[in-house]
Amino acid sequence: MNWRNTPKISDNVYWVGVKDWNRRIFDSLIPLPNGTSYNSYLILGTEKKVLIDTVNPGFEREWEEKIRKIVDLGDIDYVVMNHAEPDHAGAIPYIMKLNQKAKLITSQRGTKMAQTFFKVPENRIMVVQDQQTLSLGDKTLRFIEAPMLHWPETMFTYLEEDGVLFPCDFFGAHIAYGLHDNEVEDLLVHAQRYFGEIMMPFRVMGQKAMEKLESLKINIIAPSHGPIHKNPNRILNAYKKWVYGETREKATIVYVTMWGSTEKMVKPMVDVLASEGIEVSLHNLVVADVGDIAKDLVDSKAIVLGAPTVLGGMHPLAVYASYLVKVLRPPLKFGVVLSSYGWGGGAVKHVEELLGGLKIEIAGALEINGPPTESDIGQVVELGKALAKKIKEER
Ligand code: FEO
Repeated sequence: MNWRNTPKISDNVYWVGVKDWNRRIFDSLIPLPNGTSYNSYLILGTEKKVLIDTVNPGFEREWEEKIRKIVDLGDIDYVVMNHAEPDHAGAIPYIMKLNQKAKLITSQRGTKMAQTFFKVPENRIMVVQDQQTLSLGDKTLRFIEAPMLHWPETMFTYLEEDGVLFPCDFFGAHIAYGLHDNEVEDLLVHAQRYFGEIMMPFRVMGQKAMEKLESLKINIIAPSHGPIHKNPNRILNAYKKWVYGETREKATIVYVTMWGSTEKMVKPMVDVLASEGIEVSLHNLVVADVGDIAKDLVDSKAIVLGAPTVLGGMHPLAVYASYLVKVLRPPLKFGVVLSSYGWGGGAVKHVEELLGGLKIEIAGALEINGPPTESDIGQVVELGKALAKKIKEER
């Protein structure tokens, strides 16, 4: 008995993805506290049958059983590779071996990746250009190039008659539960975290993609991670803010402390900013989840870095946080550095070296020797007030 769940998401369009409930880390970098899903979709046209994306290696058999519940594997005409990262393309060799006639559809840039990563012979690859269409009989696919969302070869696939957009990573969320958006109460929180981790460095490319989508009638967004958006406007509106770097009156504070001195500087900063009406999120880097930090950086105007000195530079955890800021490229406007040292400073200079070149105005830096005195705390309070003023005045 084939008991696999293969819900229909539109007319003759089925979800044949898998849930990775137990995955806890992605790319050995991104924590996945809620697991993730690898969404694959099966479209049955009257003349052609198409798989949209595949699944992560290790899930091939489960995926195969789902597809077999609906069609014979040999009946599939095309496999669309929207994106070559193995969490979506890793099962391409599996399906291409079981079905010797299917063609792999990919963008021009995806061709080499399909050959390099998945050993797909050139004669089984069908390259599509931006806005090219493919008739499946009663249904039509349109391919839309969306480079860098998430890799250079990425494209979206749009099912015209149903208004279903398959954007692979874009609009996704790393959560295993919930098939549809209405089943996940705090979906936008997960989506924002995912955006911060994966899409934030590519905001300009995201803007271009959003412009391309404006002319499409989108009824459903079916990404390759997380729930399917039956109410696409909610995620579209959120993405419009995020890709254009719309920020709130908010400061993200990340810090590490060794003997408590830096923390004694950070705590008054939290209170001053909050009392000035600034939204504050605080992350102790020793226990912080980098995904949560990435989420908060998506819409913060300012960052406060609490970084004690270790061996002439900032604490390694603060180096890591600074590097994340550098590569994730959040739309931050202001930065403040708070630091203490035991016998030799250097952390503030180190921060300035690392973050130099970013469009972040350093609104103030304070480096003190040992535990902060009343006078030092007074300086932190003044720095906090000045930062709050800048945040509120920034437009
Ligand atoms: Fe979900 Fe970039 O792969």
